Amino acid sequence: MSIEVKNLFKYYGEQAAVCDISFSVKKGEIVGFLGPNGAGKSTTMKIMTGFIPASSGEIHICGMKVDVENLETRQIIGYLPENNPLYTEMYVREYLEFVGRIYKIKNLKNRVSEMIQTLGLELEQNKKIGSLSKGYRQRVGLAQAIIHDPQVLILDEPTSGLDPNQLVEIRELIRKIGEEKTVILSTHIMQEVEAICDRIVIISKGKIVANDKASILQNETTHQTVYVEFDSKVSKSQLIKIPNIQKVEAVNNAWLIETSADIDLRKEISQFAQKEKWLILTLKIEKKSLEEVFKDLTK
Ligand SMILES: Nc1ncnc2c1ncn2[C@@H]1O[C@H](COP(=O)(O)OP(=O)(O)O)[C@@H](O)[C@H]1O
Ligand SMILES: [Mg+2]
Repeated sequence: MSIEVKNLFKYYGEQAAVCDISFSVKKGEIVGFLGPNGAGKSTTMKIMTGFIPASSGEIHICGMKVDVENLETRQIIGYLPENNPLYTEMYVREYLEFVGRIYKIKNLKNRVSEMIQTLGLELEQNKKIGSLSKGYRQRVGLAQAIIHDPQVLILDEPTSGLDPNQLVEIRELIRKIGEEKTVILSTHIMQEVEAICDRIVIISKGKIVANDKASILQNETTHQTVYVEFDSKVSKSQLIKIPNIQKVEAVNNAWLIETSADIDLRKEISQFAQKEKWLILTLKIEKKSLEEVFKDLTK
């Protein structure tokens, strides 16, 4: 395991911001860390990087305990903190050289040039960080996170506040970086999770409420929605008579029918249609969107 979090607790005074969290991330995995604001994502990530201590629990990064081998683990972790704090008065190249010296990187000039190239910062390298657009600042943030070639990347909302074009570019970069490294990233954007993550961990009020592949979470639902299209004109008042129905909603020339009962609604609908002599043109289970999964698990 690259990352192993065991029974982690963090108290701020009386408040338990993180309450008995356990999860692990395998080498080479990209895991999405989701949760509403205040759920405890940043707190967990800060503890994982050794920036703040846990109240109790253990974290191992590549087999090393973060609180015991703090300097050693920092060498193998790349961290992009929330809101990407940077020295805005420094120039891009100057800043990356500064970070590289902290890590005692050999052939520093070459490594910085390599980072500038990897992150597409060639035209920006001699500009002040404060003068860069948000997307380019994010690239600088990613560059400082990977300059020492860490094995594990911890990215706290790496794409927040980017415009749609920047978003696609930064996501692409993260995916590329993730081919060789273990990555955990927090985000609010569900499409992002679908686009780049192998697995998602959802946290709510300091506790883990889900830990699985997105596709599995989407099938594990407490209710089922079926899309059905009939050949003839059918009214809502007729459809409501189908047994075990919770909700009926018209969409264009078809219907979305919902149940929270543990049944296959398609069978009920077919039987009902047969009885009423309606012809069915389309009948399929609607996959839950990740937004819905998230809402169901965290509200
Ligand atoms: N330094 C701190 N002192 C006191 N409370 C804090 C501190 N940092 C975070 N919190 C609280 O802990 C909870 C979790 O915060 P955080 O980890 O930032 O959540 P997230 O990143 O998921 O939005 C919130 O209620 C927040 O107000
Ligand atoms: Mg946060």
